Amino acid sequence: MKRVLILTAVLSLFVYAKEAQNGEAVFKKYCWGCHHQSAMAFGPPFTQIASKRTPAQIKAYILSPKSMYKTFGYKRSVMTQLHLSRSELDAITRYIVSYKGK
Ligand code: HEC
Repeated sequence: MKRVLILTAVLSLFVYAKEAQNGEAVFKKYCWGCHHQSAMAFGPPFTQIASKRTPAQIKAYILSPKSMYKTFGYKRSVMTQLHLSRSELDAITRYIVSYKGK
């Protein structure tokens, strides 16, 4: 029983590390031109987004900036409408949230 628990823990660490990696890959592929992790770029930094939004809000914005920008307090939206897969969306959201408090 103990072995199984340890094995599960080790495996979930692997999965976790892989997802963090994917998050970074998604960031480099789709967001890097406009967002930086901690510096203001064309769009706000992930540190700032993570400190004021929930994961659900972050996902909603990525899925549809055009229908969310007013709720988020912007006068207009210039963020591109992206078409991420479910797992890319999960990975990038976790990646952004990991910048909370950094
Ligand atoms: C063409 C430039 C551009 C790209 C590409 C882009 N963004 Fe944005 N993003 C912006 C700008 C500018 C804003 C500010 C509001 C707006 O214009 O929609 C923004 C706003 C956001 C917000 C809401 C910020 C808040 O106030 O909380 C989130 C979340 C976000 N972007 C995530 C992403 C993620 C994740 C990616 C990549 C998958 C991405 N963006 C790609 C330019 C971009």
